[in-house]
Amino acid sequence: MGDLKSDQAKILRDFDSAEISSETVSHCFLAQLDSPDTACAAAADYRFILDQGRLALISVQNRRQSPVLVDFFDRAFQRRLADGLHGQLMGKALGLKSLRTPTVLDATAGLGTDSYLMAHAGCLVTAIERSPAIFALLEDGLRRAVQAGCVRESASEVARRIEIRRGDFLLMDCPDKAYDVVYLDPMFPADRRKASSRKEMTMLQNIATEDQNESELLSQSLRCARRRVVVKRNRRSPELGGIKPTLKFQGSRLRFDVYCC
Ligand SMILES: C[S@@+](CC[C@H](N)C(=O)[O-])C[C@H]1O[C@@H](n2cnc3c(N)ncnc32)[C@H](O)[C@@H]1O
Repeated sequence: MGDLKSDQAKILRDFDSAEISSETVSHCFLAQLDSPDTACAAAADYRFILDQGRLALISVQNRRQSPVLVDFFDRAFQRRLADGLHGQLMGKALGLKSLRTPTVLDATAGLGTDSYLMAHAGCLVTAIERSPAIFALLEDGLRRAVQAGCVRESASEVARRIEIRRGDFLLMDCPDKAYDVVYLDPMFPADRRKASSRKEMTMLQNIATEDQNESELLSQSLRCARRRVVVKRNRRSPELGGIKPTLKFQGSRLRFDVYCC
């Protein structure tokens, strides 16, 4: 895939590079980060740590903030999974009733929550993330879920339905109509201004680069999708690129805009 978007935050690594598996895509990225005892440590925003073998990111400035990591076994997340997607706005927007188990390109994967929800509903998901730091967390969380196979067989099966790729969706060489659905959950300046209570979202907002051409994002998505493009928005956010969707599924906090192909 094309060039990597580098992160806007300064990030350090607080463990030995020998502890990073050379089989991971993130190996080189993590290995080249400075350690906290280097001269540039004072200017750092975040530190990667290993928290019981799990890759996690902690804030240097805000020491009270708990580590951010990808944990698909988290209890609250497991409860959310148990509810299923079919009766929910997201399931309706994805068209699960008619498309059943569509192939989905999650073009803005982030920490993989939505990818995992879709894979749990039976979708085959390709997840793309352009921030190397966020991708490293996602890759680590997914690897742990796959490896948990012997004790958590179903979680491992779900994780195996997700293929992750590091890179920028806009630079991706995606054939026309390659996926049933393209799913977008981008971050935009309008979202950033709102104080977010979720530490994961705050971190994503601080780390990931924000430049984005909304119309280009939508036209690339429409080109790659066979059936529909689904865009997750805050309830009051403007439509992507100011372009009217075919359908809208609106909840109290979120909205899913659907562009049928
Ligand atoms: C709001 S987060 C997505 C959260 C995700 N839906 C989840 O469930 O965790 C947006 C993510 O999209 C990524 N992103 C934005 N534009 C992208 C692009 N053009 N290609 C790949 N990733 C992109 C950002 O780096 C960020 O991690």
